[in-house]
Amino acid sequence: MRLIPLNRVPDGATLGKDVASGRADGMPLLRRGTTLTPKFVGALLKAGIHAVYIDDEETRGIDPATVLSDETRSAATAAVSRAFETASGALAAGQPLSAEAIGELEAVAARMAEEIAEINDFALALGDLSAADGYTLQHSVDVAALGLLVGQRLFKYRGYTDYMGRQSWQRIDQRLTRLGLGLLLHDIGKLAVPQEILNKPGKLDPAEWEIMKTHPVAGTELLRSDLISPLIKVVVRSHHERWEGGGYPDDKSEGEIHELARIAAVADVYDAVTSERVYAPARPPHVGVRIIREGRGTAFDAEVVDIFSQIVAPFPAGNPIELNDGRSGVVSEVVEGQIDRPIVRVLGDGAPYELDLGEHPDVLITGWEDMDPTGDRIPARA
Ligand SMILES: [Fe+2]
Repeated sequence: MRLIPLNRVPDGATLGKDVASGRADGMPLLRRGTTLTPKFVGALLKAGIHAVYIDDEETRGIDPATVLSDETRSAATAAVSRAFETASGALAAGQPLSAEAIGELEAVAARMAEEIAEINDFALALGDLSAADGYTLQHSVDVAALGLLVGQRLFKYRGYTDYMGRQSWQRIDQRLTRLGLGLLLHDIGKLAVPQEILNKPGKLDPAEWEIMKTHPVAGTELLRSDLISPLIKVVVRSHHERWEGGGYPDDKSEGEIHELARIAAVADVYDAVTSERVYAPARPPHVGVRIIREGRGTAFDAEVVDIFSQIVAPFPAGNPIELNDGRSGVVSEVVEGQIDRPIVRVLGDGAPYELDLGEHPDVLITGWEDMDPTGDRIPARA
């Protein structure tokens, strides 16, 4: 299987993975196995999708690892959608969201944390390809999956910081469920931001930007019930704070920012960069990875970035890759200990063959190792 830009999909190719719609019922836009006719390709382009996985002979056996099972992803999308719907009613009535209203979501967060606990894999292809107009729902689920992966590794390795500032290993599962729930709800305050601003194709003007920046506090307001854990609220309130300061809404820095919110910041930005947006196409994983690594110790907590870098590969299996000696192909496998130097299936005129970049330090990846900093920036509208 390989990822291919939609405008280069050969007629009659077989879709290798479901394309998520981002819709509330979690139903995919197109199912894997579908034969891609020009009509389907046109429909996907119209939905704002620019690349899909296809199955073909040359890339047989290449399998991009995914974090969540299709069932859990659908259940999570549906539960987030229902919680947002209830919250939207609460907002209109000026009421806070009840703790019961997020009960179903809590169960989903626990299920996600459990599923993620069983993943021994690393270097995962994260996120699902989905339409830009379903952004908030899919984004919530993908950010939760990535944040849970990072949180789990971090806490296993050095425990979490408890309310007294001590390292603790007690009830890590509960801590992770709270993190997952906070991540699923992190952008719930966007319900208070008008659609015209959220979905504006161009740049926001200063007044619109001020409204956009109200969403973390609006989210915290919605979750003000005393029965909702403060750990969930802190993820919602502080996911736009930055390590060296300059974030919003409280302009906190370093240790003032809650540990769970520091994890949320990294997961949120990575997913925003690599997802289709109404105003920007999805960037490839290596651009997202570069932005996160460049923010180490400035925008983001260095410890969190280090864990992220062990998990998220710049070139995951199935992604296209070009080498500086003119060869090109598809990433076949990411090997532990050499996350930046995958095994490549070289495709060209002759028969395909595997090239282990770990054994060929002289061969560089075009657009990654042979380039000056690209000037890619953390997007303002994560
Ligand atoms: Fe946000």
